[in-house]
Amino acid sequence: MRLVLLGPPGAGKGTQAQLLKQTFAIPHISTGDLLRQAVKEETNLGKQARAYMDKGELVPDELVTAMVAERLQHPDCASGFLLDGFPRSIAQADALADELTRSGKRLDGVMSIMVPRADLIERLSGRRVCRECGTMYHERFDPPKRAGVCDKCQGVLYQRSDDNAETVSARLVVYERSTAPLLSYYGDRELLYEIDGRGMPEEVGQRITAALNTVPATHRS
Ligand code: AP5
Ligand code: MG
Ligand code: ZN
Repeated sequence: MRLVLLGPPGAGKGTQAQLLKQTFAIPHISTGDLLRQAVKEETNLGKQARAYMDKGELVPDELVTAMVAERLQHPDCASGFLLDGFPRSIAQADALADELTRSGKRLDGVMSIMVPRADLIERLSGRRVCRECGTMYHERFDPPKRAGVCDKCQGVLYQRSDDNAETVSARLVVYERSTAPLLSYYGDRELLYEIDGRGMPEEVGQRITAALNTVPATHRS
């Protein structure tokens, strides 16, 4: 299964990827997570990416496509993958298509998670992430048992530096400008599945699973 999770900031791509990973034994590849790791480790890529991420802008296509191409070579991607936050521009989508064609593969589907803007802002402003294991929480919708502490590993929870009001607004503008055109890009290629992202994470997950069941056999890998 080769899937893309598409959606604006806060739509629940990471949350749904965690759920889907349990159903399909395929790796979850989040370009946001990979870039944050690179920033933390102060690699060359991280040093270049940081300023863009802080402003809520896209990291240049060539840096991100090279990072993903490298990741897709890992043996764990042989039977599929779940891309979260990539592609995010037409150039990235073209690069992914070329990369897959080269290896005789294709995408099964692109799940576009749709959530009203007001809900996105609410979700992002309350998001907290475990510094140790990456588990996601929400102050209101999915709070940890003890404030500020991860239920799973007792790690400290933090707020992402790009989850402040100003950067969130910038990220939403960037989504509309650069990423939303992918809806018609994948629609034209009959790969797009529109998922209502409102409601509980489990309900959204059921909608994704239902959509996956309608993927034509010719598209399945
Ligand atoms: P990235 O990390 O991908 O951020 P994003 O796209 O802005 O998306 P988020 O991770 O903020 O949201 P999400 O959809 O994963 O939502 P989540 O599940 O966490 O990218 C960060 C930056 O890296 C970019 O701005 C850019 O600079 C750079 N970058 C990354 N990829 C790139 C690329 N391909 N090209 C160029 N640059 C790139 O949920 C959010 C919150 O809501 C959580 O608290 C969660 O608990 C809660 N929640 C989730 N689902 C529900 C629900 N159903 N009901 C209630 N609450 C919910
Ligand atoms: Mg995410
Ligand atoms: Zn944890």
